[in-house]
Amino acid sequence: YEIYLHGMTGAVPRLPTDLTRLEELTEQRLGPGPVGYVAGGAGDGSTARANRAALARHRIVPRVLRDVHERDLSVEVLGRALPAPLALAPVGVLSLMHPDAEGAAARAAAAQGVPFVLSSASSTPMEQVAEAMGDAERWFQLYWPKDPEVARSFLGRAKAAGFTALVVTLDTPMLAWRPRDLDQAYLPFLHGVGTANYFTDPAFRAGLAKPVHEDPNAAVMHFVGMFSDPAKTWPDLAFLREHWDGPIVLKGILHPDDARAAADAGMDGVVVSNHGGRQVAGSVGAADALPGIARAVGDRLAVLFDSGVRTGDDIFKALALGARAVLIGRPYAYGLGLDGQAGVEHVIRCLLAELDLTLALSGHRGPGSVGPADLVTEPG
Ligand code: FNR
Repeated sequence: YEIYLHGMTGAVPRLPTDLTRLEELTEQRLGPGPVGYVAGGAGDGSTARANRAALARHRIVPRVLRDVHERDLSVEVLGRALPAPLALAPVGVLSLMHPDAEGAAARAAAAQGVPFVLSSASSTPMEQVAEAMGDAERWFQLYWPKDPEVARSFLGRAKAAGFTALVVTLDTPMLAWRPRDLDQAYLPFLHGVGTANYFTDPAFRAGLAKPVHEDPNAAVMHFVGMFSDPAKTWPDLAFLREHWDGPIVLKGILHPDDARAAADAGMDGVVVSNHGGRQVAGSVGAADALPGIARAVGDRLAVLFDSGVRTGDDIFKALALGARAVLIGRPYAYGLGLDGQAGVEHVIRCLLAELDLTLALSGHRGPGSVGPADLVTEPG
C-alpha cells in the first residue's frame, strides 16, 4: 500500500514495478555496450528463453478461505534464518552498471536483509564490500583459481572479511560462446574490469614478474590463465573442505546425479542454475531441472535456484518445485544501472511484496507450506 499511499500525493515509483521492463530501460539509459554483457546469453539466447518458458509452463492454483492475514516470509537456509527466500546472485563487473558497483548492491542487500553473494570477478575488492555491509549476511562466490595458493588466499581473505558461506561456481570452467560480447569484441576482464580481488591478492601478485601498475597487460593475462580450471574433478572438492570451515554450496548444478555427488562429497547445498542462460546454449531450462534435483537431495542439501526469476510468482513457483530460496542476477544489475543502491532496493522490495501477495492470494502464510500441489504444469 506504500506505493498507493504515495500516489495520493501524485508520486509514482521512480522505476517500473514490472521488473521485466528494466532491461529495455537500462539499455536506453546506458547504451547497448554494457547492457550487452549483462543481458547477453550463450549462443542464440535459447537457454535464457528456456528459463522463462520453464517457469511460465507452471501455473499456480490458488486456494481460498485459509486465514492468511498474518504472514511470514522467513526461511532457514544453511543453518541461518533469512527474512525471505531471496538472495542477490554473484554478478561480476558491476562497475559496468554503476560507479558504486558492488558496494551499492551490497548496501541495498544489507538494508533489505537479504544475503549478498559477492562474485570472485567483482569490480570492488571483497574487503571493501564487507566493510560496506557491516554485519549483514554475505556469501563469497568462488571461481576456483588454477593456482592453489591463490585459491587458499581467497578463502582466507573471505573468511577474515566475514563471508559466511562459500558458493563455488562449477558451470564456468571457461567462458561460453556469447555472441553479443564476441560481436563487440568486448570482454570486461581484458580491460582490467572485474579483476579487483585478484589484483589485490598477495598470492596472485607473487606470481607476477612486475607489479600490476607497471605491467597491467601481463597482470590481465595472468588473470586469464588463472581464473578457472577445466581440469578439476569431484575429488578436488576435498581441498575446499580442508580450507573452508563454513557451508559450501555448489552453483551450476542441473543433473540429479551431480547433486547426489555434491551431497556425497559433504557439500551443504547446490544452486540449480544454468548461469542465467550464459553458459550452455540449448541447455535445459533451470526450472525444469529443479524438481528432479529437489527429489534427489532435498533432504540432504539446501537446494537453491536461479536463472530466469523476474517476479514474485516466479519465486513462488521455484519454492513449489522444491527450492528453499532463489537468487536473482540481472534484475538487480539493471536496478543498479538505473538508480544505484535505491534501484537495487526497489527490485528487492518489489519482488518480496509480490511474493507476499502471491502467497496470500494463493492461500499460504509463508514459504513452508508451498509445494507441488500448488501448481499445474502445461505440456512443454
Ligand atoms: C553472472 N553470473 C555469475 N555467476 C557467478 O557465479 N559468478 C559471476 O561472476 C557471475 N557473473 C555474472 C555476470 C552477469 C552480467 C550475469 C547476468 C550473471 C550468473 C548469476 O550468478 C546467476 O546465475 C544468473 O544471473 C541468474 O539468472 P538471471 O537472474 O540473471 O536470469
